[in-house]
Amino acid sequence: MSGEGPVRVAVVGAGYVGLTTAACLAHLGHDVTCADVDPAKVASLSDGVIPIHEEGLAELVREGIAAERLRFVVGAAKAVTGAGFVFLCVPTPQGPDGAADMSYVEAVSVEIGPLLEHDAIVVNKSTVPVGSTRVVERALGRPGVAVVSNPEFLREGSAVSDFLHPDRIVIGADEQSAAISLVELFGAIRSPVVVTDPPTAETIKYASNAFLATKVSFANAIANVCEAVGANVREVVLGMGYDRRIGSEFLRPGPGWGGSCFPKDSAALVRIAEDAGYDFGLLKGVIEVNTRQQEAVVAKVVEAAGGSVTGKRVAAWGLTFKAGTDDLRDSPALAVIGRLVAAGAEVTAYDPTRRDPLPGLSVSSDPYDACEDASALVVLTEWDEFRWLDLGVVRSRMARPRIVDTRGLIEPAAARRAGFVLSGVGIP
Ligand code: UDX
Ligand code: UDX
Repeated sequence: MSGEGPVRVAVVGAGYVGLTTAACLAHLGHDVTCADVDPAKVASLSDGVIPIHEEGLAELVREGIAAERLRFVVGAAKAVTGAGFVFLCVPTPQGPDGAADMSYVEAVSVEIGPLLEHDAIVVNKSTVPVGSTRVVERALGRPGVAVVSNPEFLREGSAVSDFLHPDRIVIGADEQSAAISLVELFGAIRSPVVVTDPPTAETIKYASNAFLATKVSFANAIANVCEAVGANVREVVLGMGYDRRIGSEFLRPGPGWGGSCFPKDSAALVRIAEDAGYDFGLLKGVIEVNTRQQEAVVAKVVEAAGGSVTGKRVAAWGLTFKAGTDDLRDSPALAVIGRLVAAGAEVTAYDPTRRDPLPGLSVSSDPYDACEDASALVVLTEWDEFRWLDLGVVRSRMARPRIVDTRGLIEPAAARRAGFVLSGVGIP
């Protein structure tokens, strides 16, 4: 497909990646059909109701539906007929051995192969192991159809702005014509475009996520050094960040990184390297630091609760894997809470986006109620509202005056004034 003007596009998978891709391409003026296997999700999306917390996404979905440029169907087969581009946005979960599970991508490719237009371009947006473009080509069984890698760099909580204003667009294509057609499709987006071959594009995605995870693990490791030498990590990373070669982003210490990408992609890259004969020791170390960071946070909470949490109430602020999203997938907050519950604690949690009960812990709709009779309060997700809660009220509800702030949100002087002993990550 080539040439300017609106193009018929199919998007397979209506999750964070697929829904954002579909709504934004419709916003750019294209005619988009988004398919999902989940009929209930398709029905609610068709009513303009979206199941995820993403800034600006619901408005774009409703705009697309109203302009009749965006529609939702059950099953990929219904979406691909007549489509010039088919975006694959189905999950590539981490398999038990660390490798990415390609089964959804392969199954969808087998399903749509016979139905594609002769000049359709299949665009792989799912994070897939290096070399997977070939897997899709084989599964499609359509030698004439181009398969292009176009990895997503969307951060949850800013997915729409990351799609419409990306730092870069990466395209991995064997045929230049397919790459040019995709550049034209994204025409209205003014960002640098890196055009390369598929394996290189797939590696850019994994390498980018692995490097970001490395920065965060480095910050967490330096935080542990700071605790040992009596330095303040927040000022250390401030001093580091002014160096343009280092930058200040992704150097905030905390309970470790989580989410639906970093854990899966870092494990997958270690496995991809191993399968290719390289032992990626550095990345294994990054993952190890992350696991140990969760253990370190649990130890801090146990100390704050008086040396044991068995039979004690512990309050937790934050359940999601980071602020700005309602996603619990691989959340460090849940990992820490799970370890505390396993140690015998009775945990009551509060999160601005979560109300539904979760196994093994209580979920309160009020941050102060969550602290009732607690021996310690642990702050696990960097929700801005936690900065402004009344610590005097919190103190009046708790059994012990102890806060473990893993995200550096609580002002130490305010904590002291309220009678708290405050501990955190990387502070003396
Ligand atoms: C996920 C991964 O997180 C990301 O790394 C990968 O690049 C794409 O898949 P995400 O959008 O977060 O991205 O996944 P998720 O929110 O789980 O949504 C996946 C959607 O695909 C679900 O709605 C699911 O019902 C749908 N799906 C899954 C299909 O439509 N067909 C399938 O065969 C499998
Ligand atoms: C990430 C990448 O940023 C994005 O480009 C890619 O497409 C998908 O994976 P996301 O998983 O949404 O996006 O979250 P991100 O904002 O990267 O944070 C990942 C984890 O690192 C979160 O648990 C977050 O709390 C943690 N983090 C991030 C820190 O602990 N400190 C930081 O300074 C930054």
